[in-house]
Amino acid sequence: MGDNLRPPPQPSPQGGGRVLADRLQPIPLHADRGISLARGEGCYLWDDHGRRYLDLMTNYGVNLLGHAHPTVTAAIERQASLLTNAHQSFDTPARQQFIDTLAGFLPPALGRMSFANSGAEAVEAAMKYTRVATGRTGILATHRAYHGRTFGALSATSDAKYRDPFMPMLEGVRHVPFDNLPAMAEAMDDSIAAVIIEPIQGEGGIRVPADGYLKGIRDLCTENGALLICDEIQTGFRTGAPLAFTRERVEPDILCLSKSIANGLPIGVTIVTEAVSERVPKGSHGGTFSGNPLVCAAGAATLQVLADDRLHAQATAKGERFQQRVRELGLSQVREVRGRGLMLAVELKKPATPVIRAMQERGVLVLPGGGTVIRFLPSILIEDAQLDEGIDALAAAVRQAG
Ligand SMILES: Cc1ncc(COP(=O)(O)O)c(C=O)c1O
Repeated sequence: MGDNLRPPPQPSPQGGGRVLADRLQPIPLHADRGISLARGEGCYLWDDHGRRYLDLMTNYGVNLLGHAHPTVTAAIERQASLLTNAHQSFDTPARQQFIDTLAGFLPPALGRMSFANSGAEAVEAAMKYTRVATGRTGILATHRAYHGRTFGALSATSDAKYRDPFMPMLEGVRHVPFDNLPAMAEAMDDSIAAVIIEPIQGEGGIRVPADGYLKGIRDLCTENGALLICDEIQTGFRTGAPLAFTRERVEPDILCLSKSIANGLPIGVTIVTEAVSERVPKGSHGGTFSGNPLVCAAGAATLQVLADDRLHAQATAKGERFQQRVRELGLSQVREVRGRGLMLAVELKKPATPVIRAMQERGVLVLPGGGTVIRFLPSILIEDAQLDEGIDALAAAVRQAG
C-alpha cells in the first residue's frame, strides 16, 4: 500500500507541547493505512472513532488467539504486577514456565534454546550459531524468502526493495529458486553452513512447496555437513499442525519462532540441537530484554492455550472452507486461491492494493503478499461466520475494483 502515504503533517503554531510533538515525526518507512487503532477484542479492532474492523491480518500473523485473549491478558496483568524484567543470568518462574510449555511442542533433539525480541533477531542468532557449529560461513536461502531486516536476516531475505538501499549484504549468502531441489543441490558445496527455509513462504505470497521439498533439503544438508534452519516465524501454529516441519517428518537443526508465540508481546526464540549448542561459546550472544518475564508470561499462557490439539485441527478445516468458498465465487479477476491452514492467499490478475483498500473501507483488514497477492493471517479462533464476512468484503471489493 505504498501509494497511499499521507502528506507529512505541517508544523503547528508556536507554543506548548504540541510544537515539540510535531517536530518529532516517524521516518516514513511504512505505508499509512490512514486509521488509528485504539482497541482490539477477539477478531475485531476498533479505530479511535469507534469504527469496527474485522482483523484478518493480526499484525502480519501475530495475534493468533485474537486480541485481548482473557488467559493471555490475565497472565500479562499478573506478571506486570510481579516482575517485568530480569537478566538471563537469573532464573525466573515465568521464563521457566514458558520454556517448559514450549518444550511440549518440540522433538527431543531440539533441546536447547536462546531468547530474542523479534523474528529477525531469532534468525540473526540462528545464522551466527551456524558459523560456530560448522566453521563455515555460507548460507543458502531462497528467492522470495523473508527472514527479517537486521543485516544477517536481511542478507537471507531476497527482495531487492529491502536489500538494495543497504548494500553490501553479508558475504556468502546465496539465493536459489524456492521449491526447486535440483537448484538447491547445485548450489550446495562445502562452504555452506546452513540452508534457511520457510516451510511455507509468507511474505513471498503464501507459497506452499511440493510435498517432499523440505525432506529433500534435509537430506541434502545431512549429506553435505550443512545445518537446516527452519524459519517458522510465520508458519508456527497456524498451518494445521503446531509446527509445519512435522507434517513432512523432517527435523531441523535450528528452529526460529516468533510472531504468534506470545500473542502480541515481542518475543523470538532460536531452538537448536545439543550438537549446535555445545559449539556456541558462553557469553557470545544475548540481549538485555531477551526472555524477560513479562513476555515469557504472555508466551507461556499463549502456548498453554495452543496446546489444545483441537485448535490446530480447526485451522485446517477453517482454511479449507475459506479456500473452497472463495473459489466458488468464480471471480474472473482471481488467478489463484492457495495456502494451508490459516495462512491463506488470493492472487489476483491485477494489483492487490486497490482491493485491499476497498476491503478496509468495508471494515475488513487484510495484507498484501507481493504486488497481486492478498494475504489472510487471521486468528485461529476465528469463526466461520467471521471468515464469511471477510469473503463477502473480498468479493465486493474485487467487483468494485473491476
Ligand atoms: C518467516 C519470517 N521470518 C522472519 C520474520 C521477521 O520477523 P520480525 O518482523 O519480527 O523481525 C518474518 C516477519 O514477517 C517472517 O515472516
